[in-house]
Amino acid sequence: MKPSFLKVEGLSKVYPGTRGKPDVTVFENIDFEIQAGEFVCVLGHSGCGKTTILNILAGLDEASAGVAIMAGRELSGPSLDRGVVFQGHALLPWLSALENVAFGVRSRWPQWGREEVVLHSSHYLGMVGLRHALHKKPAELSGGMKQRVGIARAFAIQPKMLLLDEPFGALDALTRGTIQDELLAIVRETKQTVFMITHDVDEAILLADRILLMSNGPFARIAECVPITLPRDRTRESMVHDEDYYRIRNHLIDFLWGRAAGEASDTAGPSSARKSASITPIPQHANKGDLSDEPRRNHGAHPASQAQEQDQLGRPGGYRRQKQGVDDCGAPGTDDVDGGASGSGGSRARVA
Ligand SMILES: Nc1ncnc2c1ncn2[C@@H]1O[C@H](COP(=O)(O)OP(=O)(O)OP(=O)(O)O)[C@@H](O)[C@H]1O
Ligand SMILES: [Mg+2]
Repeated sequence: MKPSFLKVEGLSKVYPGTRGKPDVTVFENIDFEIQAGEFVCVLGHSGCGKTTILNILAGLDEASAGVAIMAGRELSGPSLDRGVVFQGHALLPWLSALENVAFGVRSRWPQWGREEVVLHSSHYLGMVGLRHALHKKPAELSGGMKQRVGIARAFAIQPKMLLLDEPFGALDALTRGTIQDELLAIVRETKQTVFMITHDVDEAILLADRILLMSNGPFARIAECVPITLPRDRTRESMVHDEDYYRIRNHLIDFLWGRAAGEASDTAGPSSARKSASITPIPQHANKGDLSDEPRRNHGAHPASQAQEQDQLGRPGGYRRQKQGVDDCGAPGTDDVDGGASGSGGSRARVA
């Protein structure tokens, strides 16, 4: 088996307590590996430390313990071999959209002339639907447009690894779908390695080869790695016709509604996890015949009916817990990468 492209070992983040308060261990003993060309998504409740891990991988934050090794070298400090899309857009406000993208492109290919830099940067801005806004400053762009400039900026430097922190969070559903498709096309064509944080269960199933599930903090951990066993050429339309989609989706929701808190320290109980989850499980019968669009309908279920379901069945949503193969968070060997693919149902299941 080839050595992993990225290997993270024993990563911990501890903030020292202030004014006599004890230290805060956000997460500890984080171990996982990513193979070259693999697309890994991270799901976990707000505050468990997802962005902190991504920032450590980006070289923008330091771990309290542990190492991250990429392509045989320990990561330290930022580099153009990692392209980052931040949770906030983080654009330079005095530069236009084009100049924001060109800034990274010029650093990546210093030998390029101005025309080449502009052509390349415009291409990536066009890819995210911003060809008409090349010369607008961030203040003149909407939140979603700013986020799209950030996406173009990360893609344009063609990094060895993309680090995406909820890159589609601020986008409307239509744009989000289009850019997800673009991302998939680029990733498949370039065999890009991606580490992506999302709060959207369906997005994770659509895009990822594997999903890392984080327990709640403090003392958060990678509790499970869920391989996506759907065909890799899945689309959001095809995915809902695959029984594995429902099995995996319900497993993820089961984790986020209950076990994420159970896996965490005593200070975060299951009720806090449920409070912060705005997700709707899909009944198992939804994968039968003409019920394939069930997630859409179920997503719109009135909260009261969900509460009733909880009361009657004694657990949120009443879905049956499914047996699901999980691995030990090591990356699959090259031969093992089965990359799932199925479509995402278009319903949105999100954790807050
Ligand atoms: N300087 C700090 N001192 C103490 N705690 C901090 C500090 N900075 C961040 N934290 C804590 O670290 C935890 C992890 O933050 P992080 O931004 O990584 O969470 P996240 O999982 O990305 O959350 P979200 O899903 O809301 O983006 C949070 O609970 C936050 O309160
Ligand atoms: Mg975050």
